[in-house]
Amino acid sequence: MPSDRGASRRPSPAPVRTLPALIDTAGPQQFFCPCPRGLEPVLLDELNALGAASCAATDGGVAFSGPFELCYAANLHSRIASRVLWRVAHGAYRDERDVYELVRGVGWESCFEVHRTIRVNVSATASPLKSLDFIALRIKDAVCDRFRDLTGARPSIDTAAPDVRIHAYFDASTVSLYLDTSGEPLFKRGLRMAGGEAPLRENLAAGILRLAGWSPERALLDPMCGAGTFLIEAAEMALRRAPGSRRRFGFEKLRAFESARWSAMLAQARAEELPEQPLEIRGSDLYGAALGIARANLEKAALSQTISLKQANVLELTPPGTSGTVVTNPPYGVRLGEQDELARFYPRLGDALKQRFSGWNVCIFTADLRLPKLIGLRPKRRIPLFNGALECRLYEFEMVAGSARRRPPEESGPTPG
Ligand SMILES: C[S@@+](CC[C@H](N)C(=O)[O-])C[C@H]1O[C@@H](n2cnc3c(N)ncnc32)[C@H](O)[C@@H]1O
Repeated sequence: MPSDRGASRRPSPAPVRTLPALIDTAGPQQFFCPCPRGLEPVLLDELNALGAASCAATDGGVAFSGPFELCYAANLHSRIASRVLWRVAHGAYRDERDVYELVRGVGWESCFEVHRTIRVNVSATASPLKSLDFIALRIKDAVCDRFRDLTGARPSIDTAAPDVRIHAYFDASTVSLYLDTSGEPLFKRGLRMAGGEAPLRENLAAGILRLAGWSPERALLDPMCGAGTFLIEAAEMALRRAPGSRRRFGFEKLRAFESARWSAMLAQARAEELPEQPLEIRGSDLYGAALGIARANLEKAALSQTISLKQANVLELTPPGTSGTVVTNPPYGVRLGEQDELARFYPRLGDALKQRFSGWNVCIFTADLRLPKLIGLRPKRRIPLFNGALECRLYEFEMVAGSARRRPPEESGPTPG
């Protein structure tokens, strides 16, 4: 039961608005897809192409509306979203008690059965609430109290592998409550990949390929490929594989789930896949160990025939053709010595690109904001992106013969690893 502590000090009633107790999935629904920051415009394009209505990008995601089944399509086909959240309630709050009442007024029993396990996630921007851990507990209490009043039983909590994830997002005065239709985040494509040195998340890699303007008709090269994330995402796009066609989703545990509709959508996606075939998608890395990981990942993803790999130093590499797109992310320098090594590496990388890559579009993703100065090439575009909390840039260099190039001070040194 809710605590009455502090009730006598409460000012006039809060402008709390609860949605009708039972959630009706027949009409248009509201959704929100979070994504790595900086990828909102490409996610918006992707969702528009899937038929989403009223798409609006905010910092860190895209809100949209559509029929409930749109969440099947977004989960199945989005390469860029981190999750697809279904908004089931929204209202104003002033304090923990308002939040409890709002949550308890939501018809959770029309969304999932009492035997499902749940977990509550909370995030907030500029919220006056004192403790997000405490408010997560109160939200859990409100959901469980509602079930107990109605059925005499309550859902159990499972923080590791819950059936149903409830997300609450607070701003200064309102809270949105979501059910997570994805379950595991969407960058988990359903293949357990081996990691290398700082492998990128799949959805960040896919978004970078889109921002780079790469399309399957163009040759793609990642000359510092590590575990091969760019290559795998590109090959899957080229072979028209739906990123979610090999995994399960949170919506399968919701009452609104229509198994026949989902099976038909999945069958159609599988029917549209192209067979594995050799494509102009190539990767290389200086280190055999990194290539070993990439090979294992290609094998698991059934892409060994599609992508070619070889061991090579990017500074000595000859591109496989007269034009194409390079998408790569060089090693990050964390320690001081590595920073110095990278400062010697970038001018040599710039020279190698200038000498051998004319005709190619080169996109470099890095957290090292010194790169454009030290590489000695003028970026055509510099796009701010976030890798988790780490601020990064995608620099695009158009390598035309005799392209505008500033000569950096002459430096030499070993290639960093
Ligand atoms: C940040 S990791 C790339 C991670 C990759 N994008 C992924 O998702 O797995 C950088 C890679 O550059 C490779 N590397 C470092 N120096 C190199 C060089 N001179 N030539 C080619 N590869 C190099 C490293 O072995 C490492 O695998």
